[in-house]
Amino acid sequence: MSSTEQARRKAITVLDFSRWKSIGRKISMLTAYDHTMARLLDAAGVDCLLVGDSLGMVVQGKTSTLGVTLDQMIYHAEMVARGAEFALVVADLPFGSYHASPEQAVASSTRFLKETQCQAVKLEGGRRMAGTIRAVVDADIPVMGHVGLTPQSIRRFGGFKVQRDGDQILDDARAVAEAGAFAVVLECVPAEVAAQVTREVGIATIGIGAGADCDGQVLVSPDLLGLYDGFRPKFVRRYAELGEQIKQAAQSYVADVQNGRFPDKSESFQ
Ligand code: KIV
Repeated sequence: MSSTEQARRKAITVLDFSRWKSIGRKISMLTAYDHTMARLLDAAGVDCLLVGDSLGMVVQGKTSTLGVTLDQMIYHAEMVARGAEFALVVADLPFGSYHASPEQAVASSTRFLKETQCQAVKLEGGRRMAGTIRAVVDADIPVMGHVGLTPQSIRRFGGFKVQRDGDQILDDARAVAEAGAFAVVLECVPAEVAAQVTREVGIATIGIGAGADCDGQVLVSPDLLGLYDGFRPKFVRRYAELGEQIKQAAQSYVADVQNGRFPDKSESFQ
């Protein structure tokens, strides 16, 4: 992004999402888990930073998102939000922090807005979560929905699987929109289903493994940057191989230390 474009930028709000949908301006979203990465992605012009509970896998090294706690999410959301000058910051409600009741969802979401500078929360589930979304929105907390493959439901789904029931996905997205969400993530659904949802549902759709016709796209940053070499889903496009670069840099450092080439005089105090 040029310095002129940077100077013209305004802080993004949830209202921009429906405006952008109406004029066909695509929305870019990436996950962020710490302050340094949030600053870089924000400076690059990313519209929305998601503090995803995917951090359970790509930061904590677990096999699912189920073990992530609300306190951990708040810790990461606070760091990310401090690094985002322009991007809208959305934080994931983790498994078990909103399932018991709408009251629990309001209490958990309120903690995000009070203890971090994030502007919205995301929660997984369609029609069965509509009452919960409504309660959080009525508490003045913007909600992003998430339907299709919802990773917090993997025990019920039997794994990370493409969700193909188009009628169910459309009904879920409609219910999320009617409940007052400002946007909805569509994860791992056939492209034609996502296109239909995008046409028929009034709120912005953000796809991940959902084809090119969504109103926006989201990826997990360590996947896009080549930092995570665990499972690599079909929908990931790698824009960099930073993992390889980090390994090479660390190998050079180890060699320099072992050969006495680091530090040199300019890197030492006289
Ligand atoms: O937790 C996460 O990173 C997400 C994205 C995959 C949408 O929910």
